[in-house]
Amino acid sequence: MTAPLLVGDQMTGGYGHTTILNGCSIALAQGEIAVIVGPNGAGKSTAMKALFGMLTLRSGSVHFEGEDITSLSPEERVSCGMAFVPQTQNIFTTMSVEENLEMGAYRRREGLGETMSQIFSLFPVLKEKRSQKAGELSGGQRQQVAVGRALMTRPKLLMLDEPTAGVSPIVMDELFDRIIEVARSGISILMVEQNARQALMIADKAYVLVQGANRYTDTGQALLADPEVRKTFLGG
Ligand SMILES: Nc1ncnc2c1ncn2[C@@H]1O[C@H](COP(=O)(O)OP(=O)(O)OP(=O)(O)O)[C@@H](O)[C@H]1O
Ligand SMILES: [Mg+2]
Repeated sequence: MTAPLLVGDQMTGGYGHTTILNGCSIALAQGEIAVIVGPNGAGKSTAMKALFGMLTLRSGSVHFEGEDITSLSPEERVSCGMAFVPQTQNIFTTMSVEENLEMGAYRRREGLGETMSQIFSLFPVLKEKRSQKAGELSGGQRQQVAVGRALMTRPKLLMLDEPTAGVSPIVMDELFDRIIEVARSGISILMVEQNARQALMIADKAYVLVQGANRYTDTGQALLADPEVRKTFLGG
């Protein structure tokens, strides 16, 4: 097995006195697409926040490229090569598409133009609409802005929380194709998805979270073939 890129080990924590994550473990290797699925309120977004440093863990650890990053801030994790697109409020609606992308790279000075052209070739519609306010775009296009903004930091790992939420099936397929393309370019992907079946089809590694703990962990294909997983989480 290739060396792990990200390892969240036995993560426990929550909000105030409420424990949401109960010893949750998530890991992926360089070049992999890993997917987290599970019912509403299972703690999927909370697990993503914990991995990105937006939640203080009560116990457990997070390692990135072998380094213990448990106590690093989200900003420091960006410097390590992590990028995160949250489930909500992931773009600046009153700013133009281009300004959103520039904001993504506010800490970089060199090679911005080159990265932006890569993002425009991945998402051609963003080039077309680069001067338009991001808030005026369709749901699928806004998600492209959010992903593009995260890619502006040139991450090693791109974390996406429900990138296809609220878009039509056609737009969803299109977004999945773009995500696969990002992965092929050498950027590892960790993604939460409510379209579990489609997500598992492209997952090298998949996690089913229930009540903040790992219920199933395997390859996407293995979970798709598991009768229990199908019955309980994939509608048969
Ligand atoms: N900021 C917060 N403060 C207090 N409780 C929270 C907060 N964010 C989430 N929760 C609670 O934590 C639990 C897990 O929420 P989380 O958003 O991680 O679930 P999820 O699996 O991402 O759900 P969904 O599929 O709806 O996105 C829920 O009970 C939720 O109400
Ligand atoms: Mg969520």
